[in-house]
Amino acid sequence: MIIGQGYVGLPLAMRCVEVGYKVIGYDTDDSKIGALKDGVSPIDDVTNDQVTSALSSTSYIPTSAQDDLKDFDIAVITVPTPLRDDRPDTSFIEIAGSTIAKHLRSGSLVVLESTSYPGTTEEILRPILEKGSGLTCGLDFSLGFSPERIDPGNKSWTLRTTPKLISGVDEKSIKKVQEFYKQIVDNVVVSAGIREAEFAKLLENTYRQVNIALVNELAVHAHALKIDIWEVIRIAATKPFGYAPFYPGPGVGGHCLPIDPEYLSWKFAQNSGQNSDFIKLATTVNKRMPSYVVQRLVRALSDRGKNIKNSKVLVIGLSYKKNSSDVRESPALDVIKNLVNHGADVIAYDPFVRVVNQSGFTFSHRLEASDLKKSDAVLILTNHDGVDYEEVVRSAKYIFDIRHCVVGHNVEYL
Ligand SMILES: NC(=O)c1ccc[n+]([C@@H]2O[C@H](COP(=O)([O-])OP(=O)(O)OC[C@H]3O[C@@H](n4cnc5c(N)ncnc54)[C@H](O)[C@@H]3O)[C@@H](O)[C@H]2O)c1
Repeated sequence: MIIGQGYVGLPLAMRCVEVGYKVIGYDTDDSKIGALKDGVSPIDDVTNDQVTSALSSTSYIPTSAQDDLKDFDIAVITVPTPLRDDRPDTSFIEIAGSTIAKHLRSGSLVVLESTSYPGTTEEILRPILEKGSGLTCGLDFSLGFSPERIDPGNKSWTLRTTPKLISGVDEKSIKKVQEFYKQIVDNVVVSAGIREAEFAKLLENTYRQVNIALVNELAVHAHALKIDIWEVIRIAATKPFGYAPFYPGPGVGGHCLPIDPEYLSWKFAQNSGQNSDFIKLATTVNKRMPSYVVQRLVRALSDRGKNIKNSKVLVIGLSYKKNSSDVRESPALDVIKNLVNHGADVIAYDPFVRVVNQSGFTFSHRLEASDLKKSDAVLILTNHDGVDYEEVVRSAKYIFDIRHCVVGHNVEYL
């Protein structure tokens, strides 16, 4: 059974059905379960056809009823791990643990996939499972942690082809977790310890967050020096060792990069009272990118004799990454809020995003040539595929391209 049917849980549920498991997809969100029961996938990486065929095979049962959870052999937890008041909020894991504990039987396996700080599996989840079930971890049931590395929208590295880190509280647990994931993915990597696996996931995302912050800061400096940062990155990336390219943008978004490093720095602070300087600085640099983007746009409009107030700005791309509908923590929303505060008249176009809970601007799924022509500026924040960029370049007066995805005499880059 998979607890949580979101970006992580639903693809895993589909894969488990594919390899022959009977899967209970449990989620507390009734509307999500209702949609899944109707064969409608709430995420881009799983198609409606996949859900429909899993349902008709009768091997997939989406449910929000706890009674459906009895008699499971394996439970995988894929619930959110957000921040609350800038601190890790593990309450979703705790509630999921209590729910599982009520149905835990001797011989079962529980795996945590949600990202959290080192110690979560053994210090938070384990006692909840033991207390709620009256069973002993290691003796009666097995427990492991296996971080999800899924990169939504990535067609080359999928759930199946991305190596999967696994860990367990003891040898028996490691063996059981390994046996399970060997059927799901092509390559399983065994971690010597659970805390190391928990830390590795946070290292991976902190590495990205810090490097993106570095290149964002360098992009700002390069512009001031009148140097093309995109060309700098292109030529630097020809070095075959010791360098990995990262690209500037409007900041970082999604459920991972803005959040996971904060889990790590909170744990360091709890443990040693010390700050995590790199993480703090990277967060600061990334968070100031939306206002830098707006400053540059204000200047560009002013150079063209326009005041940002009442200027028509057409934004392309609202999600935090290309070809995704995910707007969680998306810096594009901060850019838009800032533009609206400056009095700009904003239309935002995104062919992937379904709903946006932010007001003050017009959201559209269609890119109208008339809107492009009427706009004083077009701001490309996300480089989705399938956008008619030739039309954008043909019709727009001025384009500020944050992702370096179009070419034209009317284009300026970050
Ligand atoms: N989204 C990503 O790209 C990604 C990648 C790797 C790891 N992760 C990690 O995986 C975890 C899940 O992320 P996500 O993006 O899938 O989140 P999500 O919000 O898309 O899905 C989580 C689901 O869990 C459900 N839920 C919450 N509490 C529950 C409970 N007690 N019982 C059952 N269901 C419950 C929610 O309703 C939601 O549908 C997080 O820890 C995240 O950091 C996410």
